[in-house]
Amino acid sequence: MKGRHDVGQIDLGGYSKSKIPVHILLSSLRLATDRARGDRCGGAWRLMLKLLNVDKHYGPPERPVPVLRNVSFTVQAGDFCAILGPSGSGKSTLMNIIGLLDRPTTGEVVVDGETVDFSTPEITAGLRNRLIGFVFQAFHLLPRLTAWENVALPLLYRRVARPRRREMALAMLDQVGLADRADHRPSELSGGQKQRVALARALVGGPKVVLADEPTGSLDSVTAGEVMALLRDLNRRLGVTIVMVTHDRDLAGLCDRRIEVLDGRILRDTAAA
Ligand SMILES: Nc1ncnc2c1ncn2[C@@H]1O[C@H](COP(=O)(O)OP(=O)(O)OP(=O)(O)O)[C@@H](O)[C@H]1O
Ligand SMILES: [Mg+2]
Repeated sequence: MKGRHDVGQIDLGGYSKSKIPVHILLSSLRLATDRARGDRCGGAWRLMLKLLNVDKHYGPPERPVPVLRNVSFTVQAGDFCAILGPSGSGKSTLMNIIGLLDRPTTGEVVVDGETVDFSTPEITAGLRNRLIGFVFQAFHLLPRLTAWENVALPLLYRRVARPRRREMALAMLDQVGLADRADHRPSELSGGQKQRVALARALVGGPKVVLADEPTGSLDSVTAGEVMALLRDLNRRLGVTIVMVTHDRDLAGLCDRRIEVLDGRILRDTAAA
């Protein structure tokens, strides 16, 4: 695919290399070709995610407790962003809103060109299932299911037939280096392996963006570094857009961009040099 036209990263949108539908391959090539031209400013089509003047209050309207205050930022396709900030600063609240798990009190969220209408939970759930993959600190794998069955769960909700689910899950486990653990249950896997399975599950449906809330928070520093290297690799190799919360400044330094949150506001938003 490289060679004559050096197109850089190809966004496989969660598909294994051998089974990429033609329309996905073509749109991926277009994305990669524009990237290869160095068009980092990008047109509107590169915009993946936008928050506009988002406020979030908890508590009753007469005594609101502000948690997010006038938060605005954009994430472009292929970005790898870290969100940093002290405990209680609003990072998870922000991720829940980006991930359409919670609604802003005021303000607008746009994902993949669609302004999200939070008033209809079924529609929001459908958007979430189609556009977003989640990775959590505590993995959240189902203990009775094998690794591949855990990875295949999002496909079950989409009513993909079991043989195809298994095929796609195995391809994604291969992408995270765990093809040989497909039939193991979570209790038979190390922490780092569990997080790789969770990452494969986040990616299997071909999401537009992966949101990871402290994905290395339960891991020792060596394993955390390995999971971070995998995230970095998936971002570069498959063009996956990633937004991750971390407390670890060294790990955040490996991201292309760092958004620092303090007391519900964006304090700083810096791209890597
Ligand atoms: N459901 C809720 N009801 C009321 N207050 C909440 C709720 N969820 C979060 N908060 C408050 O909002 C603030 C931000 O919480 P949040 O979980 O977003 O912080 P965080 O930056 O993710 O912290 P940590 O690093 O400890 O995970 C905190 O003061 C928290 O107590
Ligand atoms: Mg948090």
